[in-house]
Amino acid sequence: MILYNNRLIDREEARVDIEDRGYQFGDGVYEVVSVYGGKIFRLQEHLDRFEYSANQIGITLPVSLENLSENLHKLIAHHELSDGQIYYQVTRGYAPRNHPFPENPQPVLTGYVTRKPRPVEAMKNGVAAIITDDIRWLRCDIKSLNLLGSVLAKQKAAEAGAYEAIQHRDGVVTEGSASNLFMVKDGKLHTHPLGNLILGGITRIVVLEIAKKLGIDVVESSFTLSELAEAEELFLTSTTSEIMPIVTLDGKPVRSGAPGSVTKLLQEEFEGLL
Ligand code: PDD
Repeated sequence: MILYNNRLIDREEARVDIEDRGYQFGDGVYEVVSVYGGKIFRLQEHLDRFEYSANQIGITLPVSLENLSENLHKLIAHHELSDGQIYYQVTRGYAPRNHPFPENPQPVLTGYVTRKPRPVEAMKNGVAAIITDDIRWLRCDIKSLNLLGSVLAKQKAAEAGAYEAIQHRDGVVTEGSASNLFMVKDGKLHTHPLGNLILGGITRIVVLEIAKKLGIDVVESSFTLSELAEAEELFLTSTTSEIMPIVTLDGKPVRSGAPGSVTKLLQEEFEGLL
């Protein structure tokens, strides 16, 4: 079963028109949530961001957030999902192809369960990353279905045998293609400030909360590629990658080439929240 607006239906029954604006224009927004032990991690934050993204592009959600939450839980129950993810999205729906918004949009919300295992080994050993230009648009705070910039960056990483692509604009580091980036320098955590150039990650919020609790100083200001090259530790954060140490950058080891102590401390605390 999958979620279609306000009901659960068989996947085979779900129908999306070839002129759905999500399909033709990427005209829609989405969320990915993690489920641990049958519970959705930080659901309220994901619902709020979903509503924010939709508002920013003038889509009125076809259901209330309460109804959406109820149906996400029904999906979990139906699939007896203990650990996995739910992907959900809303598009502006079907209309004869024309760039401006249609007069009476009928947004289409869909959602379904996935069961990707947690990347346990990668989180323990760390992963490789490459550096690439940030070619995305200037509203990266919207979790938009338009992911071509991210897709191309991630493909570049994949072709280099790396896990993630770290993006920069004119030498200023922004975020990963599908993750936020943190750097440890002089024992402090550095990450790009919120704004239009990055997605306000939910895992990013959780890491900032943990850092506060542990008394680790956080600097929310942008840093350059040359500062990145001097990092003591690097890690990325996302719903599916959680807190992921980066141990090589463009093939060069980050310090010792192993996950650092601050990263490991944050991972331990994060685990305690699940
Ligand atoms: N990606 N930045 C970008 C560009 C992202 O696409 C994501 C998430 C994040 C991290 O956000 P969060 O911690 O809320 O997951 C940051 C999701 C997981 C994806 O596209 O699959």
